[in-house]
Amino acid sequence: MGLQVNRLSEVLGAEVIGADLSRQDDDDQAAALHRALLDNGIIVIRNQHIAPDDQIAFSRRFGKLSVHVLTDFQLPGYPEITCISNKRENGKAVGIADAGRHWHSDQAYERIPAMGSLLHAQEIPPEGGDTLFCNMYAVLEAMPESLRARIEGKYAIFNYQREYNRFKSGNADRKALTPEQIARTTGATHPIIRTHPETGRKALYVSEGHTETIKDMDPEEAEDLLQELFAFSKRPEFIYRHVWQPHDLIFWDNRCTMHNAVPYNPEYTRHMYRTTIIGDVPV
Ligand code: SIN
Repeated sequence: MGLQVNRLSEVLGAEVIGADLSRQDDDDQAAALHRALLDNGIIVIRNQHIAPDDQIAFSRRFGKLSVHVLTDFQLPGYPEITCISNKRENGKAVGIADAGRHWHSDQAYERIPAMGSLLHAQEIPPEGGDTLFCNMYAVLEAMPESLRARIEGKYAIFNYQREYNRFKSGNADRKALTPEQIARTTGATHPIIRTHPETGRKALYVSEGHTETIKDMDPEEAEDLLQELFAFSKRPEFIYRHVWQPHDLIFWDNRCTMHNAVPYNPEYTRHMYRTTIIGDVPV
């Protein structure tokens, strides 16, 4: 099989060379990629010339796929694929151009958040449009005892709509959420320190994009504590910046990382396909 796995930074991430996700029945390849994901938090699988069906089939090996709440931006014929794109066809946006431009872990606002997400570059800008990833195990492990003591045993409340509405004001393609979308995104409460169900390691589980407050805490005190946690987790030593190469497919583990899409020059095209795997209730 001959997969080569090379670390991309001190803190997280590895690139995988030699994989081919169009080999849908290759169990050994899938097991090796799963191992590399658990060891590195994110894997960049290089040079994937694959069809949407291949991305879906590979993603399904790890769990049920989620259909994103913003159904307007599905790849036609593939409800499990959300387009993240600034392309327009017949005057209509084919994807969410400004998706993920804040620190977050996917679907943390749901009772059962995402285990992992896969983003496949179809077209990338000549410069910019990078994605930042943060190692949330490393954040928790490096945290001063005094800060950690304040979050032990505490739960955070996550919300989707607040962030959606913030971006909606700057993007006419983001329509008002329908009653059905609102009902699906009423939020969730999860432990601030979560235990990864596969590695058993503990990670910080709050993010600027989706964490609203802390349960059973005075709102001002909760806000101060969250701001401290956000500032600490954004330190450069916990972050890997991914500069996309053509045909990269990134698989990230939402249970121990968060990510943030960096804006780019809108004159360039950035067109990506995303699948999202449903995980477990965080504990
Ligand atoms: C996302 O949050 O899924 C978007 C990431 C990206 O476009 O780089």
